Amino acid sequence: MSLLSKVLRKVKVPNFSIRSEPAITRDLVVLAYYLYLRRPPENEEVIRHHMGAANIDQLFANFTNSDEFVDVLHRASSNFGTITLNRLVGAAAQRIDTVVDEKTMVRLVRHVHDVWSAYGKTEPHWSVVTSESYLSDRIAGTREHFYQSGADNVKQLRAILERNGADISTLSTCLELGCGVGRVTQWLAREFSKVVAVDISRPHLDLAVEQLGKQSISNVDFICLSSLDDVEALPRYDLFYSLIVLQHNPPPVIRRMLATIFSKANEGGVCVFQIPTYLENYEFNIDHYLAFIEKRQAMEVHALPQHEIFALASAAGLSPLEVVRDGSVGGVDNVSSIFVFQKTS
Ligand SMILES: C[S@@+](CC[C@H](N)C(=O)[O-])C[C@H]1O[C@@H](n2cnc3c(N)ncnc32)[C@H](O)[C@@H]1O
Repeated sequence: MSLLSKVLRKVKVPNFSIRSEPAITRDLVVLAYYLYLRRPPENEEVIRHHMGAANIDQLFANFTNSDEFVDVLHRASSNFGTITLNRLVGAAAQRIDTVVDEKTMVRLVRHVHDVWSAYGKTEPHWSVVTSESYLSDRIAGTREHFYQSGADNVKQLRAILERNGADISTLSTCLELGCGVGRVTQWLAREFSKVVAVDISRPHLDLAVEQLGKQSISNVDFICLSSLDDVEALPRYDLFYSLIVLQHNPPPVIRRMLATIFSKANEGGVCVFQIPTYLENYEFNIDHYLAFIEKRQAMEVHALPQHEIFALASAAGLSPLEVVRDGSVGGVDNVSSIFVFQKTS
């Protein structure tokens, strides 16, 4: 039952039955004023005007399409934002294990490899952007739209670099971690003289190679990561870029990946990557996680606390330029951010 129906039942608006279309009475118009605009009508003339609506849908549309209603919504949502942010300020510490022995690390990386390779075989595009329109039985008609979306990410990247005083024309080699099927890669290739596109899933990577091949893009090297040695062997870079990738790795793997990749930044190089740092009701207890690791075949979302990221960056001689919250992970009490660091020492 809609909120309006509930209210109408309580206030006993004349001629109203929840089964039939209510007549546009004076009371209904007054009620709509309070519901949508939070105020009484200014005079009888405006009430008469609204009573002339063709039907109830039209009446409500007249309110919801008004600038005043947009203002009311805006005020309500900024209040909501304030309440949410204050809740986060007081968020309690969470148990997040980030250090494991080497054998366990290998097992965790293998797990990420297996889960993502399976997605790459069954739902390569949907696993990258989880919209129903990118499911394998629909991608033939939506592929172009899917790949076009990567242009916006590179536009954002340009804006991030510009406002942080980093000149994109001085950055030659871009290392993209988790390139997936090349959605963003093909646009990065237009900005940098060389792109190294890395993924842990061979099926995703094969589609990326195919997609860029169709456009005769030849300045991208593709690397499939199958072990931690492959991560160690990654080349040095001027820009490290990663979006909606690290979050799918258990925290110890995120930590290891970042530590290794940070160490490969060239002098003046910039790191721009997205990662959740706080998730509501989240914990990562390595023993509990390993106990059910074989059963975990669905997409996972993990977080690494900010202080860990700053400590890793500092150890690698990276200085923070910006941390901007982004919307990669839904849910008002989940925090995902894009971090921007620069190699200065
Ligand atoms: C959600 S998709 C995003 C792809 C791409 N970044 C984009 O925005 O279009 C995540 C990709 O990251 C890859 N991936 C996950 N963990 C990885 C890791 N530790 N190293 C390399 N690739 C990884 C997955 O195989 C998958 O292709």
